[in-house]
Amino acid sequence: MLDLDYALEQDRRDPLAPFRAEFVIDDPDTIYLDGNSLGRLPKRTIARLQEAVEQQWGKRMVRGWGEGWMDAPQRIGAKIAQLIGAQSDEVLVADSTSTNFYKLVCAALDARSGRHQIVTEIVNFPTDAYILQGIVRARGDHYHITYVDSQDGITISTDAIVDALNAKDCALVTLTHTAFKSGYVYDMRAITDAAHRAGALVLWDLSHSVGSIPVHLNDCNADFAVGCTYKYLNGGPGAPAFLYVRRDLQAQAMNPIQGWFGQREPICNGLELYSGSRADPLSRWHAVHPIAPRSRRRSRLAAGSRYDAAARKIGCPNRVSHRAVGCVAASARCHAQFAAQRELSRFAHFTRTP
Ligand SMILES: Cc1ncc(COP(=O)(O)O)c(C=O)c1O
Repeated sequence: MLDLDYALEQDRRDPLAPFRAEFVIDDPDTIYLDGNSLGRLPKRTIARLQEAVEQQWGKRMVRGWGEGWMDAPQRIGAKIAQLIGAQSDEVLVADSTSTNFYKLVCAALDARSGRHQIVTEIVNFPTDAYILQGIVRARGDHYHITYVDSQDGITISTDAIVDALNAKDCALVTLTHTAFKSGYVYDMRAITDAAHRAGALVLWDLSHSVGSIPVHLNDCNADFAVGCTYKYLNGGPGAPAFLYVRRDLQAQAMNPIQGWFGQREPICNGLELYSGSRADPLSRWHAVHPIAPRSRRRSRLAAGSRYDAAARKIGCPNRVSHRAVGCVAASARCHAQFAAQRELSRFAHFTRTP
């Protein structure tokens, strides 16, 4: 029988119960069931945020990029990978779920060019549907979305999804693994298998699954996934989202947003576009590249003194220019470090929130 004693007994036996003490619970009488929207604040986060702001940002300033911020998307992605059954180099923390969803839908459609059907469900999370509609509008009428209906507003059977697949035309199946309205969980393996048999790719939105139920992306051979970190991962408001691209798809899939942090060399290559003339002050940025050969280091000094001369002309004290060169050098070190990273980093856009 379900009564208060039964509930208290279950609480006493719950192996997760001690974790309650890890969270800020200001109002013990509130039964907070909105973790699906914003998880509670973990006590340890308060000190971590304070440290990040006061010590890292406050004291280290731009040097923070070279002291752990730059590789945070991969480092934290590797931790999330453990929660969703993926390899450490298949998950990247960046941007919002919506942005990541957009990037991966475009990547999937490009990888299946010639196919035009997108299969999703009628009760999917609104942002996913809006983004699909926007992409179809931008790409043209030959693309079309099939919304699989729910008979009861709660569940959609695997058969209904499979029946909707057009084996000649389907490019992408995309579903929110745990449905946001009902908590219904799709059969990831069966749907992924069926989509692959039809020649389509699959993109799972894990926003309501990660940190809440077991997820086995690799075991299910899932192609792409996205998810947020502010619900059951308790990342806090504004915490960046994550994306997953299966390892063997990373080289061929294309990020449609070609921002600087998605490049192998976020700064160096881009600036070459503008640095045709040696008189161009931007060309100095090459001069401070930390992996420049010796002969180029001399020209770096020459460029530095040219900059000093120019700075004197406009009345700037020399040390300002030296400081600027120092900052660029620190930043170039970060970028060189980033350049060594694997294909997945191409799916970063521009947000590198630590
Ligand atoms: C299933 C699902 N997908 C996507 C989003 C949108 O996330 P974001 O605001 O990070 O774009 C949410 C937000 O709650 C969600 O629940």
